[in-house]
Amino acid sequence: MLSSAVLLLAAGHLAAAVPAASSASRPAETTVEPSLTAIQSAEATVKPVTTVWLENIDFQSAAGDPNMAWLATQGITLSNYYATTHPSEPNYCAAAGGDNFGMDNDDFNTVPANVSTIVDLLDTKSISWAEYQEDLPYAGFTGFNYSTNQKTYANDYVRKHNPLVFYDSVTNNATRARQMKSFVDFETDLKNQQLPQWAFFTPNMTNDAHDTNITFGAKWERSFMAPLLNNSYFMNDTLILLTFDENSSYGIANKVFSILVGGAIPENLKGTVDATFYNHYSTIATISENWGLPSLGRWDCNANVFDLVASKTGKSNAVLNFNDKHVYFNASYPGPLSDALYSNVWPIPTNSSTCANGKGVLPSIVKTYAGQKATFNYTSVYPYDALTGLDVPSQ
Ligand SMILES: *[C@@H]1O[C@H](CO)[C@@H](O)[C@H](O)[C@H]1NC(C)=O
Ligand SMILES: *[C@@H]1O[C@H](CO)[C@@H](O)[C@H](O)[C@H]1NC(C)=O
Ligand SMILES: *[C@@H]1O[C@H](CO)[C@@H](O)[C@H](O)[C@H]1NC(C)=O
Ligand SMILES: *[C@@H]1O[C@H](CO)[C@@H](O)[C@H](O)[C@H]1NC(C)=O
Ligand SMILES: *[C@@H]1O[C@H](CO)[C@@H](O)[C@H](O)[C@H]1NC(C)=O
Ligand SMILES: *[C@@H]1O[C@H](CO)[C@@H](O)[C@H](O)[C@H]1NC(C)=O
Ligand SMILES: *[C@@H]1O[C@H](CO)[C@@H](O)[C@H](O)[C@H]1NC(C)=O
Ligand SMILES: *[C@@H]1O[C@H](CO)[C@@H](O)[C@H](O)[C@H]1NC(C)=O
Ligand SMILES: *[C@@H]1O[C@H](CO)[C@@H](O)[C@H](O)[C@H]1NC(C)=O
Ligand SMILES: *[C@@H]1O[C@H](CO)[C@@H](O)[C@H](O)[C@H]1NC(C)=O
Ligand SMILES: *[C@@H]1O[C@H](CO)[C@@H](O)[C@H](O)[C@H]1NC(C)=O
Repeated sequence: MLSSAVLLLAAGHLAAAVPAASSASRPAETTVEPSLTAIQSAEATVKPVTTVWLENIDFQSAAGDPNMAWLATQGITLSNYYATTHPSEPNYCAAAGGDNFGMDNDDFNTVPANVSTIVDLLDTKSISWAEYQEDLPYAGFTGFNYSTNQKTYANDYVRKHNPLVFYDSVTNNATRARQMKSFVDFETDLKNQQLPQWAFFTPNMTNDAHDTNITFGAKWERSFMAPLLNNSYFMNDTLILLTFDENSSYGIANKVFSILVGGAIPENLKGTVDATFYNHYSTIATISENWGLPSLGRWDCNANVFDLVASKTGKSNAVLNFNDKHVYFNASYPGPLSDALYSNVWPIPTNSSTCANGKGVLPSIVKTYAGQKATFNYTSVYPYDALTGLDVPSQ
């Protein structure tokens, strides 16, 4: 699926899952009022980062699409960018909280309030943020899905493609919840020059290729991006990640076609390829590196940072030998949001001072989990031990 974020068009990221059924109809009310007000005190000096995610398309199919190929000429193709597992929802979850908590489903999952997200990191420097979810009926909507066609209920907005909505630390806070906005709000914020510095865009199920195909999704993405690429306000120092939540073939490595575009891309790098290993956790790590923010102490801790940013800050990225490591990223580990490998233990984040290139872990997270030993149990699915220093926080 396509989804994007202002500050990285894709970034994403927790324990005792409560798979719950949602009610069949849209709730009559929520605790959150719609708002046109953007988060305040944005720092004008930092780069906005935006992420747009499309859905379920294999790397080769996406790379072969002419509109994707055109977008690639506008930026840097990331040829070793991986999702974290299947299906969709855990990947969106990962981009917000630095973990998918073993999720292997698209259920009405919620993550407890003591689990932090990228929002807590951004808040430490008053960096403005928002999500733009196409066809979200109103800002702060937390329902399972919504269709603009109230006769056919055609697939449209779906909760499973909204990275922040899983987190109680976001939805229980009205100020935060109303930063989950719609594409209509995006047009308003763009016109008023009130875009946030970090944003995540999720097109609807038609445009993100989920219910259509790469030809349709890529055409939509090009039509969405082309005018923005010519908008000097939108482009000003902006880095946009265009990516997919997951590859559609479960039986192979879960690589997703990804492109960095935007005003932050120097002319001489347009049309080039960066083969560094990245995954959805790299989006959080890149945000931390770009703004000097701490880590969530989860899979973002030592994740590789986009070279465009890492080369400026001197952060060295780890090299992964895929042939040796047999890393596929196509299954979930035993966790509190896993159906197949359920474990009632929510992972305890690390407090390592090495996270986020030496910025360490967000102090409120260290305090919350003080005295508890970090628990990561990823070895049962992948040889993650071999990746220590790459995407497994030190314990
Ligand atoms: C939308 O939510 C309703 C109620 O939970 C459910 O019956 C339906 O299958 C959902 N549709 C989609 C596309 O998720
Ligand atoms: C998705 O959004 C497009 C406009 O971008 C709209 O034409 C289409 O009808 C929407 N899809 C659904 C299922 O509502
Ligand atoms: C609610 O969210 C705002 C904005 O992110 C934040 O400043 C505030 O601390 C949050 N409140 C609580 C109780 O977490
Ligand atoms: C792609 O999806 C669009 C919209 O649903 C459809 O019109 C078109 O025929 C599809 N193309 C292929 C090759 O399936
Ligand atoms: C920007 O606009 C110019 C003409 O005004 C056009 O030639 C160019 O293709 C546009 N660029 C993009 C990325 O759409
Ligand atoms: C770009 O940002 C700089 C400072 O951050 C500002 O001075 C300039 O006016 C901006 N340009 C546009 C076109 O918004
Ligand atoms: C993941 O991919 C590997 C390599 O192709 C394959 O052997 C394995 O069965 C896949 N796992 C799942 C859960 O599909
Ligand atoms: C899915 O990603 C893998 C890389 O991990 C790529 O080799 C493969 O081509 C993709 N699937 C298809 C059918 O393109
Ligand atoms: C976090 O919240 C969950 C769910 O309420 C609880 O089980 C867990 O003990 C809490 N962890 C800490 C460190 O407070
Ligand atoms: C970090 O966690 C370890 C236990 O895993 C503990 O011994 C240490 O005191 C913690 N450090 C801080 C700063 O909380
Ligand atoms: C880790 O996962 C494996 C495989 O599911 C399980 O056997 C083991 O008990 C788990 N270890 C911990 C510490 O939870």
